Amino acid sequence: MDYSSRGIELLRKLGKVSLGFYPTPFTRLDRLSDEYGINLWIKREDFSGATLFGGNKVRKLEYLLSDAKKQGCDTVFTYGATQSNHAMETAAAARRCGMKPVLWLGAIVEPKAGDIRANLLLDSILGCEIHILKSIGSTRETMAANTALFEKRKAELAAEGHKVYDIPIGGSTPRGAAGFAECWIETLGQAATLGLKPEFFYTCTGSGGTLAGLAAGKTLMHDTRTALRGIAVGKKDPATYGPGIREKADAILELIGAEERTDPDVFSISHDYVGPGYEKPYREANDDIRLLARKEGLFLDPVYSGKAFHGMMDEIRKGVVPKGSTVIYLHTGGATALFSESEIIGDLGELPA
Ligand SMILES: Cc1ncc(COP(=O)(O)O)c(C=O)c1O
Repeated sequence: MDYSSRGIELLRKLGKVSLGFYPTPFTRLDRLSDEYGINLWIKREDFSGATLFGGNKVRKLEYLLSDAKKQGCDTVFTYGATQSNHAMETAAAARRCGMKPVLWLGAIVEPKAGDIRANLLLDSILGCEIHILKSIGSTRETMAANTALFEKRKAELAAEGHKVYDIPIGGSTPRGAAGFAECWIETLGQAATLGLKPEFFYTCTGSGGTLAGLAAGKTLMHDTRTALRGIAVGKKDPATYGPGIREKADAILELIGAEERTDPDVFSISHDYVGPGYEKPYREANDDIRLLARKEGLFLDPVYSGKAFHGMMDEIRKGVVPKGSTVIYLHTGGATALFSESEIIGDLGELPA
């Protein structure tokens, strides 16, 4: 059996519900490729479905909500910022599975009463139980300060006969992140069918589950050719962030019963493109959002996919990616942020002079 069939077989044993439309499209960015002298391809996780808004959370939720069902849960708790894509995708997927979504959202940007936008608007249409928490720093710190609140609500729901499935920030448990091992196998399979041998694979990295899953997939495929590069979009400690993601990749491999473990250089991470911080835009990243829109007619968001795309383009311009290379950019979705508060979209919202 080849590596890819064996990888998929091991992953399937975890069990998953069907939420998205796979394989997602994989297409060439012709104009940018010509302009920069590279062979640039885009993997469209923004097209994963099942709603209009897609994104990278759907693959994780297929595995997580299958587990929730197996455990007999009827309620899902999850956590994020008020404009969290993950929270909205989790809520939509929970509804699809007949479960009640309860969202705990840290207000990095305060929602304005009477002008609820983007993911928070969708959360409200989905009828989620929404708890907005005052931000005390990163979303992770805000959540750590409120665990007593979550436990209290869980106990109340249990007393009413409900069972809660807990999904942490970003859905990035080894089980959730396993979805991206599948994404690696799927994408490199599409590339191979087209006769491509990619040298670089770029992704955005936040809670790290996507990168961990891709690293596990790369390891399952015994791929030592393709450099996997994560572009961080939140302020992280480089001393612990990368090692933690590698541990998660190994936990995925262990969970599915694979014998392989990741190499120390299975991926690399750049922390140079965070800008002022999470959900805080900056001009150079927004310029590359405009570049992709104006050259290829495609949209990115200012919080995740835009900063990651900017990081990749900057490395292409600086020659970190040599001319003639075949490069894959993973579009992780998130374009709802284009319709969020002005603090998040920055100068994208300004009319041209
Ligand atoms: C659009 C988008 N891209 C990328 C990411 C980062 O994925 P991960 O948290 O798995 O690192 C997220 C996470 O919320 C996201 O919403």
